Amino acid sequence: MSVSGKKILIAVSGGIAAYKIHFLIRDFVKKGAEVQVIMTPDAEKFVTKLSLSTLSKKPVYTDFYGDNGTWNSHVELALWADVIIVAPCTSNTLSKMVHGTCDNLLIATYMSAKCPVFIAPAMDLDMYQHPSTKKNLELAESYGHYIIPAESGELASGLIGQGRMAEPETIVKKIEEFFNSTQHKTLEGKTILITAGPTYEAIDPVRFIGNHSSGKMGFSLAEEAAKRGAKVILISGPSAEKTNIQNIEIHRVTSAKEMLEEVFQFYENVDVAIASAAVADYAPKEVAKEKIKKNDDNLTIELIKNPDILKTMGEKKNHQFLVGFALETQNEEENAKGKLEKKNLDMIVLNSLRDEGAGFKNDTNKIKIFTKTEKTEFDLKSKDEVAKDIFNFIENQLLK
Ligand code: CTP
Repeated sequence: MSVSGKKILIAVSGGIAAYKIHFLIRDFVKKGAEVQVIMTPDAEKFVTKLSLSTLSKKPVYTDFYGDNGTWNSHVELALWADVIIVAPCTSNTLSKMVHGTCDNLLIATYMSAKCPVFIAPAMDLDMYQHPSTKKNLELAESYGHYIIPAESGELASGLIGQGRMAEPETIVKKIEEFFNSTQHKTLEGKTILITAGPTYEAIDPVRFIGNHSSGKMGFSLAEEAAKRGAKVILISGPSAEKTNIQNIEIHRVTSAKEMLEEVFQFYENVDVAIASAAVADYAPKEVAKEKIKKNDDNLTIELIKNPDILKTMGEKKNHQFLVGFALETQNEEENAKGKLEKKNLDMIVLNSLRDEGAGFKNDTNKIKIFTKTEKTEFDLKSKDEVAKDIFNFIENQLLK
């Protein structure tokens, strides 16, 4: 197990050791982690946003206010992260962290975080030994943060002693050890099939009928299942989403018919199947061989019903735990419960387009889960968090 798929927020403060952060980012990215960098304004004097964003493949933030009047939300950054690493952590930043002196984006993000925080201090010999630094490090530990102690050696000042930031390899190793010890492989040995994204139904060689599904929910589910140790078969319609997590086998398809065929290559041998795809219900009866030319004022395309993939899974169900999704705009609960029954499901996840922030294109979702006997409501959350709720629920059901 490594940091693959983890979301790592690196918070850089203004010390000469900031130059080492390039290697830290590169190592994490190579290992499949997603890295977001934020900096204090002083850190920018030592390293450039350009080099850090080139390596992390994401914009680097130093301020609450972005270009073109945008707002860099410290809360969003903080809640995104699986772990925060403050490196290098100067004595000034350490002091602000432990005393809540919230005067920059880094501190505001740190104070909004719920995830584990690692601190890699870097300062000159005497500063590191100063009682106030020692006290602040103790305070940070008492808040539950992890200190990666400074190492001994030649310091930028020319003095020799303890104060150098831990080497990037040491920091990476600490983070890997941390994830190894906390990761509960609750789905080890299970195979999970997930459908995701939209389907495109061809009209002619250049046009199709499709929908706005982004595939994000399905990809979040796949990643969460893989993190819990499952083998994941992800069958996705045309979606821009990608993943580099091990244990996820992606099969890309275009139409509902192709999705159906691909699903039934694997269905027999899976333990859990989750249909999160927004499958087009109808497809053109005939696909024109050539591009349809603009002739008459009206154009009629005859549509025929697509196979209902989930319903077919329900009909062929023997040992599988079957989960469906329902996206509704009216009579939500009644319709969702109807689908649970009609498609022979074990559980259905309802999202209503009437809830702000829920549904297709958003990064957030608000769900209700129904089984034949229970109803559970959840708050609006990121799709990654929703995926966790869904798997917590599934795991409880599997234990019954
Ligand atoms: N589904 C599927 N194949 C289809 C249509 C839907 O596998 N051809 C699955 C979806 O992945 C989802 C569930 O069925 O898990 C419900 O999809 P939804 O579009 O909400 O419902 P439909 O059954 O298509 O009914 P309607 O569009 O009339 O609401």
